[in-house]
Amino acid sequence: MADLRTTFAGIQSPNPFWLASAPPTNSGAQVHRAFEAGWGGAVWKTIGAPVLNVSNRYGAWHYGSQRMLAINNVELISDRPLETNLREISEVKRAWPDRAVIVSAMVESKPEAWHDIVRKIEDTGADGIELNYGCPHGMSERGMGAAVGQVPEYCEQISRWVMQAAHIPVIMKLTPNVTNVALPARAGVAAGVNGLSLINTVNSIVGVDLNSLELTPNIAGKGGHAATLGRQ
Ligand SMILES: Cc1cc2nc3c(=O)[nH]c(=O)nc-3n(C[C@H](O)[C@H](O)[C@H](O)COP(=O)(O)O)c2cc1C
Repeated sequence: MADLRTTFAGIQSPNPFWLASAPPTNSGAQVHRAFEAGWGGAVWKTIGAPVLNVSNRYGAWHYGSQRMLAINNVELISDRPLETNLREISEVKRAWPDRAVIVSAMVESKPEAWHDIVRKIEDTGADGIELNYGCPHGMSERGMGAAVGQVPEYCEQISRWVMQAAHIPVIMKLTPNVTNVALPARAGVAAGVNGLSLINTVNSIVGVDLNSLELTPNIAGKGGHAATLGRQ
């Protein structure tokens, strides 16, 4: 069999196929199943301060009589308790020492908050940390995610705080919702991050059906037209 072993940013894995930080990496059970299926690595669903996610986690684009022409991510970071995630991360890493377990993190823009989350992640035995500077909604309004990734100076400052505390490789994940993605990338490199991850969610517009309060964007022109047709 071909040898697909890779080393990325100093992190070894048996193959280069890693799950991105998203719903499939939200729990230990899911990452266990992914590794059983052969994935070489997984970036855990972003952890940080507790949030409340809405259900549905996607906004659907209906058009004319076609349902779900496209779907858009409207999920925030993990809504499970931090301690639960940290415990499951260490269990997964213990069970799968040869796989790459990376933990995505996002906390408020204070050095002590970043130092604290870095220490907690390292205590799990994880192989690396990914800085989520790309979440485009919900978190960016709170000054995190894309609110950081869109300002190179913030990327550099926060990455420096992280690098002060980190002993394992750090990957900075970029937002595509900028004019020139090279500028935040260079800022991260200047701060000493070990790798870059492209890309987080591309912004799009989602609407809300005011009758059902469901995410049902209308791209057909007249009020509610596409959403109504989509439901027939
Ligand atoms: C429902 C959903 C939730 C996501 N949650 C996270 C997250 O918690 N952290 C993160 O860094 N990226 C998150 N992402 C972004 C993905 O990791 C990925 O960067 C993005 O979907 C672009 O890759 P793709 O074109 O392969 O989907 C999420 C994406 C989706 C669709």
